[in-house]
Amino acid sequence: MTTEKILIFDTTLRDGEQSPGAKLNVEEKLRIAKQLAKLKVDIIEAGFPFSSNGDFEAVRKIAEQVGTIDGPKICGLARASAKDIKAAADALAPAAHKRIHTFLATSDIHMEFKLKKTRAEVLDITSEMVAYARSLVDDIEFSPEDACRSEPAFLYQVLERAIAAGATTVNIPDTVGYTTPAEYGALIKGIKENVPNIDHAIISVHGHNDLGLAVANFLEAVKNGARQLECTINGIGERAGNAALEELVMALHVRRQYFNPFLGKPADSTAPLTNIDTRQIRKTSQLVSECTGMIVQPNKAIVGANAFAHESGIHQDGMLKNRLTYEIMDAQLVGVAENSIVLGKLSGRNAFRTRLIELGFDLSDNDLNKAFLRFKDVADQKKSITDRDLEAIVDDVTNLVPETFKLKCVQYFSGTQAPSGEFGITPSATVVLEKEGQSEMIKETADGDGPIDAIYNAIQRAVQIEAPILKEFSIAAIGEGHDDQGIAHVMLEYAGRKYRGRGLDTDIVIAGTRAYLNAINRIHQTLNKTEEEPELISGRL
Ligand code: KIV
Ligand code: ZN
Repeated sequence: MTTEKILIFDTTLRDGEQSPGAKLNVEEKLRIAKQLAKLKVDIIEAGFPFSSNGDFEAVRKIAEQVGTIDGPKICGLARASAKDIKAAADALAPAAHKRIHTFLATSDIHMEFKLKKTRAEVLDITSEMVAYARSLVDDIEFSPEDACRSEPAFLYQVLERAIAAGATTVNIPDTVGYTTPAEYGALIKGIKENVPNIDHAIISVHGHNDLGLAVANFLEAVKNGARQLECTINGIGERAGNAALEELVMALHVRRQYFNPFLGKPADSTAPLTNIDTRQIRKTSQLVSECTGMIVQPNKAIVGANAFAHESGIHQDGMLKNRLTYEIMDAQLVGVAENSIVLGKLSGRNAFRTRLIELGFDLSDNDLNKAFLRFKDVADQKKSITDRDLEAIVDDVTNLVPETFKLKCVQYFSGTQAPSGEFGITPSATVVLEKEGQSEMIKETADGDGPIDAIYNAIQRAVQIEAPILKEFSIAAIGEGHDDQGIAHVMLEYAGRKYRGRGLDTDIVIAGTRAYLNAINRIHQTLNKTEEEPELISGRL
């Protein structure tokens, strides 16, 4: 099967969510899916419906609200089993364009130890389950899991069976991130040459970044016939993550004259090779980072804070003379705005709303009010408010974790602690929290090793759950000035699961407090859910 463009299949909400601690709630998934639709990805893998009621619900809501007639195709993952496939079909039902993605391992090691199935059994299950999926939905993707470590001759047979049974896309996963570009290219070429009915399906690639080769592998696969790329925003995902969408899209865009001939196009064609609206890349990256709590490293290609920053004098001089001396792409092309200082203390509600609309935010009146109040607070403490500040404020007020506990007030004492204790201060803190549905405020005081420790201990007493383990804590400034806002991220471990939280404030200790409470509220959300909605299968893939 041929496609005009290379299809971008985004799996941020499925494989991306398999990053430790990156669990998203339904509202967050919906928000990201809406942004992915603006980014114009071709297919959104919205989740794994059979894995939990929460995932089923998220896929169903995304199918309903984002899978519109002119929206992206919505996909649900399913193991090659009838129950999984049925759950995927049910969750996807409201989407105008839908796909079931079913998978079954084909490497000897997976078949022997994980599936405990023979090759003949795997061939039969493939035929049976793909045919069943096809009886429910017209568009079926089949993945032979761990394809890159499968014996090629057997892989060809499995793919032939899958296509004969109705698969319209065959995806070749490098599940363990083991392959190298030349090997991956050769595997795709081998599939094209040895699977007799391959012309009836699109070849897709999916790969993990354990050796840092995922993007390079995919580009080699494109040269050899792959026409769908499965990737995630910021490259998040299981272990070292997946191939990063932004890197693939921009490599294909910036170097399209190199890739054109492999796609049968004239080398000098300037037509885009994907449908992606590249100007939405930065915004999507920030949204995913903020919802998952996974900070983007500053030197990350395309979306890192330093990706377009020129530090050395020689580079800056060259740039002033001609940008092309050191710049291979215009930052605006990926949505980095030139104009960064926009509003201040005296800006009114209208200017505030107008700038948010320019930045692509479409807030409800209620969220707009909350954001404006927060903006006024920040503007009281900070001379100029940048777009990045505005984005952080919007993200904070639309933070979609139900606030079981709201921070009303925090007070802390801290300072240097002399070894003898004679002139030292014992850090201590008092917090006042409001609990949803309870009129009386909760006030608690505690000591700690520092202000953050004291505050966390006080919150701990107030919320009355067993103490979670603080696994990660970080604070970063949103901009560069001393009066900037700080954004804090924490990761807590509670009852064997990881929970992220984030908080924003011009006072970094308060930002750290908000982040902790955000994670505590996530724990509460899960505790409430598990009472009503037991997970259908434990763990994820
Ligand atoms: O990495 C993998 O093999 C997967 C499959 C489910 C496609 O994520
Ligand atoms: Zn994967």
